[in-house]
Amino acid sequence: MEKFSHSLMDNNITQSDTDSVVDFLKKNKKKIFTQSTQVKRFEAEWSKWLKTKYSVFVNSGSSANLVTLQIIKILYGAGEVIVPPLTWISDIASVIQNNFKPVFVDINPRNLCMDENQIIKKINNKTVAVFLTHAQGFNGLSEKLLKTLKKKKIILIEDVCESHGATFKNKKLGTYGLISNFSFYYAHHMSTIEGGMICTNNRKIYETAKMLRSHGMLRESGNKKYEKKLQKKYHFLSPKFIFLYPAYNVRNTEIPAVIGINQLKRLDNNNKIRSKNFKIFLENINEKYYRNDFELEGSSNYAFPLVLKKANLKNRDLLEKIMKKNKIEFRRGNAGGGNQLRQPYLIKYIKDINLKNFKNVDHIHFFGYYIGNYPSLKKTKIKIICQILNNIDYD
Ligand SMILES: Cc1ncc(COP(=O)(O)O)c(C=O)c1O
Repeated sequence: MEKFSHSLMDNNITQSDTDSVVDFLKKNKKKIFTQSTQVKRFEAEWSKWLKTKYSVFVNSGSSANLVTLQIIKILYGAGEVIVPPLTWISDIASVIQNNFKPVFVDINPRNLCMDENQIIKKINNKTVAVFLTHAQGFNGLSEKLLKTLKKKKIILIEDVCESHGATFKNKKLGTYGLISNFSFYYAHHMSTIEGGMICTNNRKIYETAKMLRSHGMLRESGNKKYEKKLQKKYHFLSPKFIFLYPAYNVRNTEIPAVIGINQLKRLDNNNKIRSKNFKIFLENINEKYYRNDFELEGSSNYAFPLVLKKANLKNRDLLEKIMKKNKIEFRRGNAGGGNQLRQPYLIKYIKDINLKNFKNVDHIHFFGYYIGNYPSLKKTKIKIICQILNNIDYD
């Protein structure tokens, strides 16, 4: 009998995806595999799926974060950006590297996203943007937050890298912000091996994103009138080599785009199965030990957040021991390894921060986990996983 195990992700790149790549390689007479027609097609299909005007395919979600914050700096200027302590490092690194001051607020334990009231409290005349992460498939938006941001003219950026297909008021996350970011890393709802997307309805942002993706080069903007004007201004430069911004090459290529196009066809159906699975986890996990009061409306979870209710290190070590013994793969700290405020890269930027004001994220840091929730996961297996977790002899 095959030994029991439960991985974080399973089968996220399928035979059908690899077949689509082989087919593309065979049919592509010109052998152009750098960013070209398939990238354009994937961007158009993604925009159609998300219902935004523009999408820019890049080589990772982190690159999407970096380009986005550079756009904000170029088009809207310096200041503070409100960020969560529970997110991926690139959400904070992109803020710091673009010389914004990161301003942290604690999370709401029921959706793992920033607490809306604390965001509103931190807004001041230096605030440029709120960079909100929809953590682990949960919606972090509310009517109150959106209204306040609109009234105070604060930019909303949505990081949807962990929440493809999740919604707020039946509209997809990633359509509310001025810019939104997605990741197609293997561990997420869909994968292009590596990859990310920058989405917006704003033409100027779209054109700037395309330039920043390609060395900051003017000719990538796609706006002929604008290009002509600047070519005239910089007449002493070769028109093909006008570098407007200090940037890098974060382009993606044709093969990941082909995989993305094929993956997109099954994303909605996969998400339906994931949501069904999530409910089975919730119905079977023992609420005496684990949190089960998550805000599910509009959520689309690629993982199950396993959060111990009691802050007890002995219990935590026992849980890890049992999961390891039963080959249940896990990540401690939920999104991004837990509380970013405890990470060495941030120490010099957060001297004024008192960790006591971040109790919710700290609980996740020490007592929160995620385990896999993928479409091929069967009900019987979820029940066995829950049985193993419920039978632990906690203090
Ligand atoms: C919230 C969030 N933002 C950004 C990223 C970065 O995406 P990538 O791994 O594609 O660089 C991740 C990665 O997992 C993430 O979870």
